[in-house]
Amino acid sequence: MSIALSIIYLIGTLTFVIGLKMLGHPETAKRGNLIAAFGMGIAILGTLFLHDFEVSNFIYTLVIAAILIGGIIGWVIAVKVEMTKMPELVSLFNGFGGGSALLIGLVEFSKNIGVAEADKASISIVTTILAAIIIGSITFTGSLIAWAKLNGSMNDIRLPKYNLINNIVVIGLVAFGAYIVTVNTDSLLLIYLLLVASLIYGVLFVIPIGGADMPVVISLLNSLTGIAAAITGILYDNMVMLVGGILVGSAGLILTFAMCKAMNRSLGNVIFGAFGGDAAVAGATGKTGGTIKKTSASDAAVMMNYSSNVVIVPGYGLAVAQAQHVIHELEELLTKRGVNVRYAIHPVAGRMPGHMNVLLAESNVAYDKLVEMDDINPQFPNTDVVLVVGANDVVNPAAHNDPSSPIYGMPILDVENAKHIIVNKRSMNAGYAGIENELFFNQKTSMLFGDAKSALTELVNEIKNM
Ligand code: TAP
Repeated sequence: MSIALSIIYLIGTLTFVIGLKMLGHPETAKRGNLIAAFGMGIAILGTLFLHDFEVSNFIYTLVIAAILIGGIIGWVIAVKVEMTKMPELVSLFNGFGGGSALLIGLVEFSKNIGVAEADKASISIVTTILAAIIIGSITFTGSLIAWAKLNGSMNDIRLPKYNLINNIVVIGLVAFGAYIVTVNTDSLLLIYLLLVASLIYGVLFVIPIGGADMPVVISLLNSLTGIAAAITGILYDNMVMLVGGILVGSAGLILTFAMCKAMNRSLGNVIFGAFGGDAAVAGATGKTGGTIKKTSASDAAVMMNYSSNVVIVPGYGLAVAQAQHVIHELEELLTKRGVNVRYAIHPVAGRMPGHMNVLLAESNVAYDKLVEMDDINPQFPNTDVVLVVGANDVVNPAAHNDPSSPIYGMPILDVENAKHIIVNKRSMNAGYAGIENELFFNQKTSMLFGDAKSALTELVNEIKNM
């Protein structure tokens, strides 16, 4: 490898690390993403133009055409995607990452047929290739199933004894791979069988998991893609692929566990449980029932206009209604009238990590207005009005009060400690966890029913007219 290419790979590697670090804060996240993308860009260009390839011009042209076509399609899709569809898109892109790893594995295997028998050192190469094929295939089909579930075109399918079947298939895959490495490395047929079995396992792994748990599964699959990329990095002795893959693999795992922790669930419970499905609804009791108090936009406007401290709690419904701009308008209006307005951000509000931060950043809400759960919770007793917009589980006191609730133990925003609570949603329907919310029956709570965008627009107009 030329010195120039080594330097480019080093810069690429460093930009991944710096970019990932910057993704940790909303203020730097966008720049971090661009820096990492720049690193990826120069690594691709460096590989294309500085690497010694022994390929024909035709193949070379095909590679460049594929990069251009794929890049343009990816760009257009990413620019057009709605915020609520982002987990679907991540899942689809992730699946393509797994697909690439499996194709690389297949190409490399055909180049190395029979080597392990001739040379003991080559056993590790074949093992690496098989790992890329297995992990890449599982990620490919698993991500496509997750995508289908997220866009509502597929329901959960639980075969009888599905956990047992899945465990047997996984053990079978590892045993089959070990057989190929140690006994027969010259059969392409066996590799294709391994490939098909791995693709089937990807499907079996994801079909029983509740559609609502898909963000956690996608994060897990994402980390598997990282591992597959790191393995291909070993195959090609390529530092950028190796480091990039390790970063994606470890960051994906950390994110998976962070999401599980914020939902107070174990990873095993997500994979083998049925949260968000029938079991959750059946298990839900809670101190619900009784009467609810409805309010109007004009009454809510008066209450908020004459408050000193208002905290807005954004949730999934805010994203569905695309009401981020109007909520920012409400915040600015109240601030001009001397009200101290902040947003309380729960770590799993919405449907993907950082969902609310990204949504509010889109409407230019100042970052210092966003307060994390642990910092805002002690401040609720001094809050005059909490406005909950399209959030449900993340403010459900059953997490503290009801040991039979599926969300018992999940950290929540303690909005019930505020002086007044206004909840905006369209109906009394449940949220993600499929359970009722006792907050709605609290004496201090007023329900402002309606789609978030129209309800907030009405609220803004009422305040403007005051
Ligand atoms: P949810 O508990 O899902 O509640 C959202 C509420 O928004 C619903 O009750 C719905 O009630 C309302 N809504 C929907 N469309 C609306 C609209 N157009 N206008 C007004 N309201 C609307 O949301 P949350 O409180 O944000 O909690 C997030 C949940 O997702 C948690 O249980 C969390 O564990 C889970 N989850 C999150 C993540 C990440 S990383 N964020 C990952 C996996 C799972 P109506 O139908 O009555 O309007």
